[in-house]
Amino acid sequence: MANTAIRTAVFPVAGRGTRFLPATKASPKEMLPIVDKPLIQYAVEEALAAGAHRLVFITGASKRAIEDHFDTDEALEKLLESQGKPELAQQVRSILPSYASCIYIRQPAPLGLGHAVLCARPAVGDEPFFVHLADDLIDAEVPCLKQMAATYLARGGSVLGVEEVPRRDTQKYGIVEVEPGEDVVSRIRSIVEKPRPEVAPSTLAVVGRYVLTPGIFAELERVGQGAGGEIQLTDGIALLLQREPVFAHRFVGRRFDCGSKLGYLQATVELSLAHPVLGKDFRSYLKRIAATLDGPA
Ligand code: G1P
Repeated sequence: MANTAIRTAVFPVAGRGTRFLPATKASPKEMLPIVDKPLIQYAVEEALAAGAHRLVFITGASKRAIEDHFDTDEALEKLLESQGKPELAQQVRSILPSYASCIYIRQPAPLGLGHAVLCARPAVGDEPFFVHLADDLIDAEVPCLKQMAATYLARGGSVLGVEEVPRRDTQKYGIVEVEPGEDVVSRIRSIVEKPRPEVAPSTLAVVGRYVLTPGIFAELERVGQGAGGEIQLTDGIALLLQREPVFAHRFVGRRFDCGSKLGYLQATVELSLAHPVLGKDFRSYLKRIAATLDGPA
């Protein structure tokens, strides 16, 4: 059991988003909007809902827009007020609650996710923390990190968000092998980064949600280059689980891989359908065009 609430969330946002070029040439992939909010805002809202209030962004080249997004913009607020749009002004003002603080740390070179997390060490200190990968958008009644924080409080140790994936896809994920017999939460026996389908120990994949104990930092300092020549978070976790418990949590919710174009489009359609203002009209529109799509899929 743990008795420390988690107050820090780390957002590794240094990647260049090459899968979305040219859209991401000068603008961060985390600023791609789903309906009317950028991906990074969904990420921050999830972390806030799970109790975090210290937000640590590990940034790289061309990421200034993320800082601007979470900064106050008095000129814009005044402009909207003067145009008689107080609701919009309020929306812009309340992107972040006043109790939240942002810390930006530059990752000097793209050395991998493990290295990005290690860059957060001075801001995190000796406490458990969340890691959230904004590419993985999870639509859930109880925000995914909140589900995982409850597991952390009940069980202690580190907690990884996981879901089953088709075996052909194991090469895209960290894959865990868990102790048999448990349901939502299982203790992890081993973890490997992006194994080929024929050697993957299971089809239980780590998605971009982690609760990590500060013990991860010493392990990340020890790991060398792993898959793709990068310092992998997965390799640090593989060392960590030899010393302390690490759990897999099968979260309840629907994940969209917004790092892929198809996943991004699916998230856009699903969240548009669920949108309180747009949903109804968008549904009628989809029905209309669906009727014109005939022939095999
Ligand atoms: C990263 C991690 C991988 C994890 C994945 C989840 O990979 O290295 O273990 O399963 O995120 O999205 P990436 O997608 O950055 O290649």
